[in-house]
Amino acid sequence: MIGIATRPSGRDTEACRPHGSPPTVAAHLPTGLLIDGQWRPASSGATFPVQDPATEETLFDVADATSDDALAALTSAHDSWPAWREVAPRQRADLLRAVFDEMIARTDDLAAVITAEGGKPLAESRAEVIYGAEYLRWYSEQAVRIDGLARRAPSGANHQVVLNRPVGPALLITPWNFPLAMITRKVAPALAAGCTAVVKPAALTPLTTALFAEIVREQLESRGLPTGILNVVPTTHASGISGPLLADRRLRKLSFTGSTEVGQHLLRAAADGVLRTSMELGGNAPFLVFEDADIPAAVQGALAAKMRNAGQTCVAANRFLVHESVADEFAAGLTAAFDALVVGHGSDPGTTVGPLIEAKAVAKVSELVADAVDGGARVTTGGDALDHAGFFYAPTVLTGVSPDSRAVREEIFGPVAPIVTFGTEAEAVTMANSTDFGLVAYAYTRDVGRTFRLAESIEAGMLGVNRGMVSDATAPFGGVKSSGLGREGGEAGIAEYLDSIYVAI
Ligand code: SIN
Repeated sequence: MIGIATRPSGRDTEACRPHGSPPTVAAHLPTGLLIDGQWRPASSGATFPVQDPATEETLFDVADATSDDALAALTSAHDSWPAWREVAPRQRADLLRAVFDEMIARTDDLAAVITAEGGKPLAESRAEVIYGAEYLRWYSEQAVRIDGLARRAPSGANHQVVLNRPVGPALLITPWNFPLAMITRKVAPALAAGCTAVVKPAALTPLTTALFAEIVREQLESRGLPTGILNVVPTTHASGISGPLLADRRLRKLSFTGSTEVGQHLLRAAADGVLRTSMELGGNAPFLVFEDADIPAAVQGALAAKMRNAGQTCVAANRFLVHESVADEFAAGLTAAFDALVVGHGSDPGTTVGPLIEAKAVAKVSELVADAVDGGARVTTGGDALDHAGFFYAPTVLTGVSPDSRAVREEIFGPVAPIVTFGTEAEAVTMANSTDFGLVAYAYTRDVGRTFRLAESIEAGMLGVNRGMVSDATAPFGGVKSSGLGREGGEAGIAEYLDSIYVAI
């Protein structure tokens, strides 16, 4: 099992082994840049610290890529693309399957790193490894099924053949909240399609990416496949490297997961090169509880939808819209469930809620709660940041929340559940849709007719019915409106990395 609590200061696998300590897996955690199959320091020599959000202690210093490093990574992705696209689909599938097997074998190591740098409880980190690895398995199965089309043209004049070809080198920009799954969700379909990649992981959580990338690199090397197809450039100068990369015509694809604001900025930068883009952006998920719902089941679903990663997911239930006839029962059940949660360091066995990622996240959540209370909301549990080291905020339930309060209009990204009541289904749908976002919605109801009405009328890319969790590597994940463009996962996910080429014969 990984021993993560060491602070080596080197920049590659060898240099980062701490003197006098056993050669744990952590001692071999790469902390450099991965370019052309080699771990190396940043060209400037600069590093940046990665913190444990539960203790505020520095875990590792990681190489801080410059724009020159990023362009070297793109050169590697570009130069290795011709060889990679020629690799037989079956060989690509076998590689992805081997990476899946290795990730599963190293679940505890990967989970320990996710918890150390991201804070989530170990059980959630293990679940993330299983979830993240599934993208490798699913796309190993899709790599050999990149179908085209052949048919006689309706006019009878010719035949139409459609081929699917890899788009080319892709820039994959990933967030800190799922430091493994958000990378595998992009890397697996990209490699399966025959694309190559430059990954820019979040500066708050680059260590998980490093361990995953090393697993891929080892598998490529042992099979004699081009190791330059996957490059990793952690950096604290995100726009300093995305600008030059997006301006470089060798790049053919951008996939980003993060805030709508940053996504819009990247889309503008990608417009000059008319890049293929996939955008998984912010959310403001409504969680609807109708009068006919199974309330204990809705409370359990609410816990799942709200408290995964302490509320720091873009699919987190943000607004609880509850029918007025069941609002008291639901609020009492949710308050009791939140009271039973144990906040602490993610590696402590009893912990069910970890810290937020950084101090400014705690400040934002505190502001939103204060604003709701000023607007007349009542705190039934929680309501405060915890007064000790680490970025902790108490699980909080708010009742009687005004629909105009910031906690209802903005993405909370924290362990706070604001409850707003409604009277009719039509009112609930109007409230659910009164946001620029449209990633996911949840509904608890026993009425099948209503389920289909909601599927037709809710403005969201995903709908969980009597479920607090929709994410699945084998299904299309993505949003409408300001929540994004394109889909990740499922059959749709690989299409994002393919160009269809039509041949008239
Ligand atoms: C996200 O928060 O960006 C994704 C969460 C998920 O895949 O479930």
